[in-house]
Amino acid sequence: ATATLEFSVTTSKNRRSDEERARILANPGFGVNFSDHMVGIDWSLERGWYNARVQPYGPLSLDPACSVLHYAQEIFEGLKAYRHADGSVWAFRPQANAARMQRSAERLALPPLPEAEFLESIRQLILVDKAWVPTAPETSLYLRPFTIASERFLGVRAAQHASYYVIGSPAGAYFPKGVAPVSIWVSEHYTRAGRGGTGAAKCGGNYSASLLPQQEAYKQGCSQVLFLDAVHGTYLEELGGMNLFLVRKDGSLLTPSLTGSILEGVTRDSLIQLAKDQGRVVEERQITLEEVQAGMNNGEISEAFACGTAAVITPICSIKGKDFVAGRDDAPAGELTMSLRKALTDIQYGRAADPHGWMMKL
Ligand code: COI
Repeated sequence: ATATLEFSVTTSKNRRSDEERARILANPGFGVNFSDHMVGIDWSLERGWYNARVQPYGPLSLDPACSVLHYAQEIFEGLKAYRHADGSVWAFRPQANAARMQRSAERLALPPLPEAEFLESIRQLILVDKAWVPTAPETSLYLRPFTIASERFLGVRAAQHASYYVIGSPAGAYFPKGVAPVSIWVSEHYTRAGRGGTGAAKCGGNYSASLLPQQEAYKQGCSQVLFLDAVHGTYLEELGGMNLFLVRKDGSLLTPSLTGSILEGVTRDSLIQLAKDQGRVVEERQITLEEVQAGMNNGEISEAFACGTAAVITPICSIKGKDFVAGRDDAPAGELTMSLRKALTDIQYGRAADPHGWMMKL
């Protein structure tokens, strides 16, 4: 399908200078700097999607009674634009993000944005802010589409006005130490999502619920919290903002199955495909914490890693809880972990063939 909305373009009068942008891109960090423009599209029950526009990046003006501010009716996405050696800019599987955002919209009773408009919104942002896609290795422009309920109404029901935006943020590594292995803290008290809840939707509420347990993880010297399932409290679900994989000593992979309460990661799905392409066995099933504790300590499980758009693949050296440690804090990054990371990023940065047609030129 082709996009039907016409985008109006208002360029910024306060574009950063080439020098200022180069200074930012030389050391982008994660989520702290933003490009000069953003995209907006409004929606109302009567009109559908309208007012598609590119505008200068800047604060939103919201009525204080907007339902997003009270009932957290909000969804978001995360994907990256990658600079290839010839200067062209590409997105990785943006159709998968468009589809997931539609599923998230349905769960949060927000309007689903058609795929063609989602893809066009990304193209429009890159059209004005292409210079914000960094060129250094392992950097990208992190794109953050999101939809908020913008109706002025305090009653609790699905909003009849919403707004969709896309902002872009030049990104290096998500974790301050780059791809150095991280420790994980198992939250034994808090869970992330219940049966029938919003766990599979990419909504802000899931992430706000993870912040307190995430603070607990930091206090324990760990970089991410690991949640267990809310029904039994025994099965691994996901990390605060990433999916989890385990590698067995025979080279097979193990990852929690999509139960409806974990996020259906695009990176997760892509790694399953890449591992299968290599002839590896990938098991998606329920995994008990006990199995991981035993396996990481007796060598049956030889590697572990976190994955997500932001984190790409980050090795995990240890998984800890109140009364156990699995793995070792000084364990090096796993070999298969790093080779899968390379296989994935080689496709994303155009250094390798793209057998599944995952890349879309912007
Ligand atoms: C991602 O884009 O990978 C996320 O899940 C969001 C957050 C962890 C930055």
